[in-house]
Amino acid sequence: MMEIPANSPVLPETLPDTILEGNRFIRACLRRPVDRTPVWFLRQAGRYMQEYREVRKFHTLVEICKQPDLAAEVTITAAEKLGVDAAIIFADLLLPLEPMGLDFEFQAGEGPVVHHPVRSAEEVRALRTDRTADLAYVARAIEKVAAHFRERLGIIGFCGAPYTLASYMIEGGGSKNYIHTKRMMFGDTTAWRSLLDKLVVVLTEYCQMQVQAGADVIQIFDSWVGSLGLSDYRDYAFEASKRLVRAVQKMGVPVIYFGVETAGLLPEMAATGADVIGLDWRQPLDQGWRSVGPAHAVQGNLDPITLFAPLEVLELRVKEILRAAQGRPGHIFNLGHGIVPGTPVENVQAVVRMVHEFRLEKTNG
Ligand code: CP3
Repeated sequence: MMEIPANSPVLPETLPDTILEGNRFIRACLRRPVDRTPVWFLRQAGRYMQEYREVRKFHTLVEICKQPDLAAEVTITAAEKLGVDAAIIFADLLLPLEPMGLDFEFQAGEGPVVHHPVRSAEEVRALRTDRTADLAYVARAIEKVAAHFRERLGIIGFCGAPYTLASYMIEGGGSKNYIHTKRMMFGDTTAWRSLLDKLVVVLTEYCQMQVQAGADVIQIFDSWVGSLGLSDYRDYAFEASKRLVRAVQKMGVPVIYFGVETAGLLPEMAATGADVIGLDWRQPLDQGWRSVGPAHAVQGNLDPITLFAPLEVLELRVKEILRAAQGRPGHIFNLGHGIVPGTPVENVQAVVRMVHEFRLEKTNG
């Protein structure tokens, strides 16, 4: 008799195709049953990978993003080397700043620097929303990746969430305390709302380009939303995120909404209506999923630094997450945040194997 793995309401391969239609990553985003848990990694193409470092010897990060052949190559190489179920397009969160009128650069070891941060209502007014078509290079790269993988892998397009992108525009880079951001948010709420409105316009059009080019799913990164308390998230960030989520869903694709240090925000983040909510590692996956509620899929939540641990420890943590998910439809295995430079590639590959081979033990009989 065919062995039916117990880690999900599993469908044997003999069932008609219609039941298994679509790849397992997209199915999991929609909380449909899958043959095994899909897995991919945030920042799976990056400096920890030799092949990426080779390309970076000759091109800056932004050059790679702007040359569709290179961006597609980096995306495809990482996904194939790891054997993951989804490929995230190689791009960066900050690319939309340029057509809005803000120059930025990545300074070695320091992260992004925006040269003239937005600090006043006047500067918000000067931001442009009519040049999003300049980002077409991202769509061209997605087309190449989609042509390569066809139905085999899920293709993830992405953008920043309004709050997180606004914070980069206002701070001029990464931040510890978000003083400038919150000063505008509290002190000139009209300018703040106008900034988020402009971002929603640009990001909606940007996502539309990505979906038309072949993105199966859009991930919205609200990486720094954990800097907000619940009331401030509700009053100053939720509505713009929700509008973006709904606009993207209307394009016919599921949305993954991601943030870190969000334990206190999860129910509210779920209220945006996003199909999948990203969970970081600071609470167990089942606890996070309870906060998010059963109407949403979840993605996560291994601590990326566990990838430096001995394999036995790594396996323990991977299995802990899979057991917490209990094989319920709607779990996508991922890290709680991105892979960091120096991570051993073979450990990332080992996690893919562990997730793919995992079967829940039967507990009663
Ligand atoms: O496989 C992938 O996920 C790679 C594609 C990707 C990049 N940036 C390329 C990149 C993605 C999905 C991003 C998103 C991104 N960019 C986020 C959201 C994800 C998160 O981490 O929360 C954010 C906040 C940014 C902004 C950004 N870009 C920062 C803060 C940095 C510096 C970080 C560092 O480690 O130096 C970047 C640079 C960046 N973007 C790199 C890569 C591969 C590394 C720098 C390089 O190659 O020179």
